[in-house]
Amino acid sequence: MPIRFVFISDSHYHPAAPRDFGAPKLLTRGREVLEATVPAVNALQPDFIVHGGDLLCGGGSFEIPLDQYLESVDTVAAAYEAFDAPLHIVPGNHDCEAAERSFTAFAERFTIPSVLEVVEPAPGLRLALANVYHANSNNGSGIWSPELDQALRRAAAEALRDRVPLLLVLHPWILPNQTDQGGLVTGHERVLQTVSDCAAVAAVLTGHRHINRIRLWRDFLVVDTACLIGYPVGFRELILHEDGMLRSRFHQLDLPDFIQASRDRVTPEACDRYQGEIGDRDCDVLLPRVRELRRPG
Ligand SMILES: [Fe+2]
Ligand SMILES: [Fe+2]
Repeated sequence: MPIRFVFISDSHYHPAAPRDFGAPKLLTRGREVLEATVPAVNALQPDFIVHGGDLLCGGGSFEIPLDQYLESVDTVAAAYEAFDAPLHIVPGNHDCEAAERSFTAFAERFTIPSVLEVVEPAPGLRLALANVYHANSNNGSGIWSPELDQALRRAAAEALRDRVPLLLVLHPWILPNQTDQGGLVTGHERVLQTVSDCAAVAAVLTGHRHINRIRLWRDFLVVDTACLIGYPVGFRELILHEDGMLRSRFHQLDLPDFIQASRDRVTPEACDRYQGEIGDRDCDVLLPRVRELRRPG
């Protein structure tokens, strides 16, 4: 049976944003996104859902008062309780409160990994959920720490022994961009090396940069997903087939006015960059490591 799941990221709910902040985000209209997300995801009947972080507008940049931050934690938690499938989350840099950069209130309503948590949300597939802010919540793009590295190597060894593919999930990017290195996890060379070394890690899923991108790196896939709070205003459906074929389909929310208003804040060229090329949204690509792990005998 294929495994169907949804990856959503960077929904950035703010209960009382005084302005929209950096384009193409529309923070003043976050409630529309929040209300449209759950039915759109449920309609796909996924086996599970993964959120790549930045559910909220805490941390730096948005200057959110503590009472509004705490309200946003409760509002998003209540909304996401309506997901029909289990939700797995990695924290983003905007999920902590603004003053102390503490994740405590967030972690009281959402289950987040303390360092690296391994779950098996569907038979025959594991997720390694990484908290890249466990050592330092002031570093916006996170740190790939020695603890994370060791934990991933252990999880990958167990997955290889059990011949179960493992997907690494973390908030920031691990693959450099051509022009702008912002948004890369500190220690990206180390995580790339570790994933290269660990044959059970079939793909790496990230958010944070609000850009769609899919790249085959060596023999594993890197899947970066754009945001919900601005153009292209959507999420990714992923279907993993028995033979290792992964189908990606990007779904925009049914919010035409919102999408147009977000588009109007930036140039068409910038919109193209956020949504990616067609193969960054919709493609069928073989995961060689899944095929290898599932090879009989
Ligand atoms: Fe974000
Ligand atoms: Fe982020």
